[in-house]
Amino acid sequence: MKKYSEVYQGWLADPEKFWMDAAEKIDWFKKPTRASSDLNDPLCKWFSDGEVNTCYNALDRHVKNGRAEQTAIIYDSPVTGVKEKISYSLLLENVSLLAGALLEKGIRKGDRVIVYMPMVPEAIVAMLAIARIGAIHSVVFGGFAANELATRIDDATPKAIIAGSCGIEGNKIIDYKPLLDEAINLAEHKPDFCVLFQREQKEATLLSGRDFDWKDLISKASKADCCAVSGDHPVYILYTSGTTGQPKGVIRPTGGHLVALYWTMKNIYNVDPGDVFWAASDVGWVVGHSYICYAPLIHGNTTVLFEGKPVGTPDAGTFWRVMSEHKVKSFFTAPTAFRAIKREDPEGNLVKNYDLSNLRALYLAGERADPDTIVWAQKQLNVPVIDHWWQTETGYTIVGNPLGIEHLPIKLGSPSVPMPGYDVRILDGGGREKKIRELGAIAIKLPLPPGTLPTLWNAHERFQSSYLEAFPGYYETGDAGYKDEDGYLYIMARTDDVINVAGHRLSTGAMEEVLASHGDVAECAVIGVEDELKGQLPLGFLCINKGVSRSKAEIINECVKLIREKIGPVAAFKTAIIVERLPKTRSGKILRAIMVKIANGASWLTPATIDDPEILDEIEIKLKEIGYGQQKKET
Ligand code: COA
Ligand code: AMP
Repeated sequence: MKKYSEVYQGWLADPEKFWMDAAEKIDWFKKPTRASSDLNDPLCKWFSDGEVNTCYNALDRHVKNGRAEQTAIIYDSPVTGVKEKISYSLLLENVSLLAGALLEKGIRKGDRVIVYMPMVPEAIVAMLAIARIGAIHSVVFGGFAANELATRIDDATPKAIIAGSCGIEGNKIIDYKPLLDEAINLAEHKPDFCVLFQREQKEATLLSGRDFDWKDLISKASKADCCAVSGDHPVYILYTSGTTGQPKGVIRPTGGHLVALYWTMKNIYNVDPGDVFWAASDVGWVVGHSYICYAPLIHGNTTVLFEGKPVGTPDAGTFWRVMSEHKVKSFFTAPTAFRAIKREDPEGNLVKNYDLSNLRALYLAGERADPDTIVWAQKQLNVPVIDHWWQTETGYTIVGNPLGIEHLPIKLGSPSVPMPGYDVRILDGGGREKKIRELGAIAIKLPLPPGTLPTLWNAHERFQSSYLEAFPGYYETGDAGYKDEDGYLYIMARTDDVINVAGHRLSTGAMEEVLASHGDVAECAVIGVEDELKGQLPLGFLCINKGVSRSKAEIINECVKLIREKIGPVAAFKTAIIVERLPKTRSGKILRAIMVKIANGASWLTPATIDDPEILDEIEIKLKEIGYGQQKKET
């Protein structure tokens, strides 16, 4: 069997052949004659002269080829007590009916449909049904507030919205319908209609003429067949945080997505068709798109859809129960989930109650995997713990340890080595390559591989300026890090205002925009501070308008509420302090990096460019009063 280095070198020597070979695993209505439109074009398209359908590859072909009775989805919901197995043939039936209903209501190829659903199988049914008719879905995570949903409605201009009536968060029921109604009110663009999936925990009242009951619609619908689309047709748009309040609409092209995701299932996750694969994330995030929904189904696996939390539903043994009961072979989650379990059950007593003999590996991504968590997980599960690094923009692993090809030695703190398709470089500000172990900006040589974003929805200029301008010929990842002598990569920090809270990517810039809208706030800054459980948490600094005499606590409470209302509970914005001024350079740039160091208790030096050095001491004192920044500054 080929070793990793042979596979990687094989790709590097002939990317066209590598991807054409990989494309053999996909069923095309019209086979592509080429993988790339032009490898010398940094923005080349992939498989654009092929014709294909995502849903066909995820469902129809498996039903035709002997997997009709195999379980496609195991729905395990400790929050409702429901466990359900859905076969490939039943899933195909449900998807075809919803697709038919959408067609009958006027949805056509290229139309956008927003999906605002909790973790129920119908979320996957909706995604696949939309893809089946060549429409483009945009799933919005349930933890976002109405305002965020409205922003996405205005950007994606969907013809329809498919929503659940409620989500269940531990023991709380989240009523989605008021959020949906408010979002539609706030948005300038109005969808033609909404489809509501009613859950018994909280049924929604339907607005006559606009809202339709899911079950009613499909009871009258006839099944729709797959619509052939070109390889570069978008299958979905997924919004992710950038540096401003306007999220970036990452476009996922159909053909490359199918080819690349199929490739990852064996080569990276080391599963064979028929095996049970579980990604404990949410369909609202990229991990959920790629590894709860698409990749396992495209590859003929059984995917687990888990509606619960790592702790509290009902206890810190819930992950072990699911793995053991459903014979999970490969498991994927964010390190924060393991930190939550470790906090509740540090000795791992609950693991001992379950038979985890089917589990072969644990995969972690979404945020930095701290060595303590890796070592703890390894000890409990006794399987390789694989850190891998990727982004919404790529949709699959950039740097990882490809167990299905070769189990490379694990180096704690590193997600290992670049996957085929990715030529990863560490660059200095001038675009020159850094030496081994020197920290720099992580960039990927263009063109990016199949399945990665070709541009941003409605925002090609922003795509160019966010990713391509800093280092001509390269994609700027927004992460900083270094490589070691064996080519292992270490991801150290973001270079922009994006923070990572419990594996959720959030923009401090977006939070600042919301805080600035508070009538008493003259100026503000938000930074990400280290947090033992969630990796990072946002922390706000507020400068209050002159003459405001209301209590500081009251203003802070209002600001916390405002972020919850405008961005959503998932932002986990709970702490802010009021300061006289913000530390700035003489040219007026807020010195966020130094504020982060002070808050984290790291050593810090007063920057030479600072306008007024005393502000830093004021900030340090105030942060210490609320328990941040315990270390002394260097003199
Ligand atoms: N709908 C509505 N609200 C949601 C939500 C959803 N889908 N998901 C989260 N929220 C709310 C939570 O209820 C919580 O609200 P609260 O402030 O009222 O308590 C808030 O958003 C923060 O949620 P969360 O980040 O999940 O924190 P938590 O304290 O409830 O749980 C963990 C902490 C570590 C257990 C949890 O973050 C977790 O399981 N993380 C796994 C990581 C993961 O799945 N990452 C996805 C990328 S791989
Ligand atoms: P998202 O687009 O939500 O997947 O977030 C992508 C960002 O999360 C990356 O740019 C990194 O900053 C961070 N990230 C994801 N995986 C890892 C990892 N394995 N190690 C360190 N950071 C990671």
